[in-house]
Amino acid sequence: MPAMRVLGIESSCDETGVALYDTERGLLGHAVHSQVDMHQAYGGVVPELASRDHIRRLAPLLRRVLADSGLNLEDVDAVAYTAGPGLAGALLVGASFAAALALARGIPALPVHHLEGHLLSPLLSRDPPNFPFVALLVSGGHTQLMHVTGVGAYQLLGESLDDAAGEAFDKTAKLLDLGYPGGPALAQLAETGTPGRYKLPRPMLHSGDLDFSFSGLKTAVLTLVRTHPLDAPGRADLAAEFQEAVTEVLVAKSLAAVRQCGMQRLVVAGGVGANRRLRQRLNEAAATVGVRVFYPELELCTDNGAMIAFCGAQRLLAGAQPDSGGGFAVRPRWPLQELLPVG
Ligand code: KG4
Ligand code: ZN
Repeated sequence: MPAMRVLGIESSCDETGVALYDTERGLLGHAVHSQVDMHQAYGGVVPELASRDHIRRLAPLLRRVLADSGLNLEDVDAVAYTAGPGLAGALLVGASFAAALALARGIPALPVHHLEGHLLSPLLSRDPPNFPFVALLVSGGHTQLMHVTGVGAYQLLGESLDDAAGEAFDKTAKLLDLGYPGGPALAQLAETGTPGRYKLPRPMLHSGDLDFSFSGLKTAVLTLVRTHPLDAPGRADLAAEFQEAVTEVLVAKSLAAVRQCGMQRLVVAGGVGANRRLRQRLNEAAATVGVRVFYPELELCTDNGAMIAFCGAQRLLAGAQPDSGGGFAVRPRWPLQELLPVG
């Protein structure tokens, strides 16, 4: 098959991402605009504002990516866009932008599952893993362990029964007045504290399955904050204990999943995969059992267009047949298990 250049459009939540991926040369350019500053005043993502901002950002980001790549629209062979899961209005902005581009150019538009984008993002790194592997997907909306045997071949091994790991970070950060988005701020505070001074549970650590539950941790933190007046070092110690509790469970279940599937490779994807303590403990634990851990490049851990372009390209290479009729649909709720196999 000749080289193909796929444009990726991401607009599922509070980041607008555009990227251009070449199936022979790799990533040619990518640009992200984060809406964090805009939503900060409201303490969380305001869906209507998110949609409006995606509209403002997409065309300038596309121009930048094309300029950085030294190419123009005529050089693009297909457009991949995030069709779900995510905020309905925000998804529709990216989907209509992608469909309009594809229609104008007479090229196919390909809907991409946001989590599949995250899942495959470590394959974009300088040292990519081979299939098969176990993937730990830890984002703001999902915590899942998957057995991955190829593009489009994902078996769910376990998942969070309530809050996702990122959601737990964000909600706990709010309880500690760390604002939005809380995850990175909480992680930063945790690095200055010591775990163990306050005791938090390790939910479902010994449940015997590969599921998770993180909502109780937030409640435990809330109880502690209400009953103990915390000074600055106390807050840092509590943040450290929270991070330790989440990390410990994620590490234990990931290694159990690797063992259960008889794998030597573990892939970590999604925003929480940027957490330094998680990476450190995973690497240490994996090394003792001869397992290698693969991560996406740090800038591709959180939402971006590169993973969408790459995922679209992999699906096209695997024989996916995109609809070239100009119609499009988004799926705000879209379980990864409902992804149709490629080809
Ligand atoms: O994958 P992502 O960008 O968006 C979703 O698809 O959800 O993940 C965002 C999540 C947020 O909950 C954010 O707080 C969390 O990832 N996050 C972190 C860190 N960086 C981002 N959580 C813990 N430590 C971090 N360093
Ligand atoms: Zn994401």
